Amino acid sequence: MVRSKLPDTGTTIFAVMSKMADEYNAINLSRGFPDFHCDEELISLVAEFMHKGFNQYAPIEGIIELREVISDLVHKNYSFQYDPEKEILITAGATQAIYTAISALVREEDEIIIFEPAYDCYVPAIEMNGGIPIFISMKKPDYKIDWDEVQKMVNPKTKLIIVNTPHNPSGSILNAQDMEKLKKIVSGTNILILSDEVYENIIFDGYEHQSVARFPQLAERSVIVSSFGKSLHVTGWRMGYCLAPQEIMKEIRKVHQYLAYTVNTPMQYAIAEYIKRKNYDLSLRQFYQEKRDYFSRLINFSRFKIIPSAGTYFQLLDYSSITDEKDTVFAEILTKEHGVASVPMSVFYKDKYDAKVLRFCFAKKKETLERAAERLMKI
Ligand SMILES: Cc1ncc(COP(=O)(O)O)c(C=O)c1O
Repeated sequence: MVRSKLPDTGTTIFAVMSKMADEYNAINLSRGFPDFHCDEELISLVAEFMHKGFNQYAPIEGIIELREVISDLVHKNYSFQYDPEKEILITAGATQAIYTAISALVREEDEIIIFEPAYDCYVPAIEMNGGIPIFISMKKPDYKIDWDEVQKMVNPKTKLIIVNTPHNPSGSILNAQDMEKLKKIVSGTNILILSDEVYENIIFDGYEHQSVARFPQLAERSVIVSSFGKSLHVTGWRMGYCLAPQEIMKEIRKVHQYLAYTVNTPMQYAIAEYIKRKNYDLSLRQFYQEKRDYFSRLINFSRFKIIPSAGTYFQLLDYSSITDEKDTVFAEILTKEHGVASVPMSVFYKDKYDAKVLRFCFAKKKETLERAAERLMKI
């Protein structure tokens, strides 16, 4: 009776691995979320705004206080000025921002270039809107984009290029030369860019996040998406935003008003107030770099090979010296028999390219990382 619009899409791997972790009582390093609390002050602010009566519909584009805070932050960090009135939209997480932007911009038969391994929400959004994903692979150990290949794939049907830095699942980042190459490829074309920057504040070793907002010639054709879930340790609140020049944002807002309509009101007020009070972005780098380094130290002499992570809260481990098993099989064995859940990297490739690599989330308490490391060390 129902002909699926997404016949190749099943339950996300994150849910599958988490369910397996629960069933086998494994430590869950598969899903990307913190197992520690967010700042109590942020929770108090939400309660405060609820008690004050901020419980009804917010404006469609989000409350102006939060849009202004975002505009100032982006300007401070990347020097580009987004107009809070016309160029910023508060969304129900970055996922909704991505879906909404793709719906607003992609038409039947448009080609969208995406880089694999790719976060899992891009392809369904493209396909639901009649677009054609064009895959370009990045491979271990450094997961770099081959810009010559991108240049070869670009043609008059190319509508959008989706970039993601810091990159989930690989933990790689784009540098300024990458951005220059991207700029050269799109210059003189009508190609738009969707820049997924949800981990913009989780970047290590002194690297600077290369937002498209640092490059005016990219910003003028880009939609940036970001997530308070990642930056404030509140993935379950579903709070994110997108930024785009007025002409593009006008179309995104039209779709947003019928998709989400508006986003959680008291949380918008609380986040705006919280960011005004704190300088959360830089301290977050330090916080997660310590977790990355701690986890790496704990498993340093294991049989897993650490693939360096320059950003995000994910660590890739190469297990090729342990077994030849497929990564999906080994991830299952690791969960069921050794009690640590991870995500096999092949699921992020259309052709299920298996490089014997698993992704582990280190956004966890010290004790959780210690317990997981102890188990990994025994393998
Ligand atoms: C690369 C990337 N983009 C987007 C998202 C979605 O973010 P949100 O939870 O704000 O919807 C995630 C979440 O894991 C992600 O890793």
